[in-house]
Amino acid sequence: MPFPIHRPRRLRRTEAVRSLVRETQLQPSNFVYPLFLVPGEGRRKEISSMPGIYQLSIDEAVKECEEAKKLGLGGVLLFGIPEHKDEEASGAYDAHGIVQDGVRAIKRAVPELLVVTDVCNCEYTSHGHCGKIVNGDVDNDATLGWLAATALSHARAGADIVAPSDMMDGRVDAIRTTLDEEGFDQTAIMAYSAKYASGFYGPFREAAECAPQFGDRRSYQMDPANSREALKEMQLDYEEGADILMVKPALAYLDIIAAAYQSFDVPIAAYQVSGEFSMIMAAVQNGWIDKDRVMMETLTSIKRAGASIIATYFAKDAARLIS
Ligand code: PBG
Repeated sequence: MPFPIHRPRRLRRTEAVRSLVRETQLQPSNFVYPLFLVPGEGRRKEISSMPGIYQLSIDEAVKECEEAKKLGLGGVLLFGIPEHKDEEASGAYDAHGIVQDGVRAIKRAVPELLVVTDVCNCEYTSHGHCGKIVNGDVDNDATLGWLAATALSHARAGADIVAPSDMMDGRVDAIRTTLDEEGFDQTAIMAYSAKYASGFYGPFREAAECAPQFGDRRSYQMDPANSREALKEMQLDYEEGADILMVKPALAYLDIIAAAYQSFDVPIAAYQVSGEFSMIMAAVQNGWIDKDRVMMETLTSIKRAGASIIATYFAKDAARLIS
């Protein structure tokens, strides 16, 4: 029945009625806060392209985790920048690597906080690629052992969830099998399943010091033009045992998030990546847009599309605004 029987504006008249009919509600527990760990003590170095985001020594990261817990965040997502990089990414699966030591320190200080670890090699290889280089390209099968060893070392340190972000074929299976064999059948896998070769990772590569020294990541990360391929990637990870499927980046891929939510009966995560954050912050610093509004609007759109878990550099700010 058309106008004048129907007047949609009736339900927008006051904040009371708007909040009654609001379909999407963000909660602090939806947010996962990424942290960049560096060696040393008392270190807190701001990333020039990411205002308010720092490389942190473990003691400083622990303070962030205490705050994350107080704010009720869903968890933290750890990245490590090792002292030394080499051809074999040995820092990635070192039992006393930066992430492994970081997990132990965080779990000692804030045991209830959920700790997710990024499982990848690009921060640890001298060439900055996500796997072992054979004949000038990343060799898929030769990289799987590194990933499984890294995930196992994170689980041993106490990580609740491991999150492989490398985009090798078969890595979820390799990680699941190793974790199960070693008695970590309760450690969950959040797979970066549909991870695109994106220009939005630019600032992260400064933060994590992991820009590839030659070539790019297009032989393993996905082509931004493809959506059906994303469903295939997610299907494979789902079958290999991923507990949570992730889409990354978020804002330019809301269609992929929506398709993931429709297609798979597991929680869907999305990563609002560094460039998405930096782009908003640059406009905010120019006085062109309102930070709180745009932050909440983007996060709401990501949840509305179907992601109940959002990795975001806005996690603390958004949680504060909600409460
Ligand atoms: C590492 C990794 C990247 C990001 C998360 N894990 C960078 C990349 O693939 O180049 C990007 C996160 C961000 O931009 O915030 N494989």
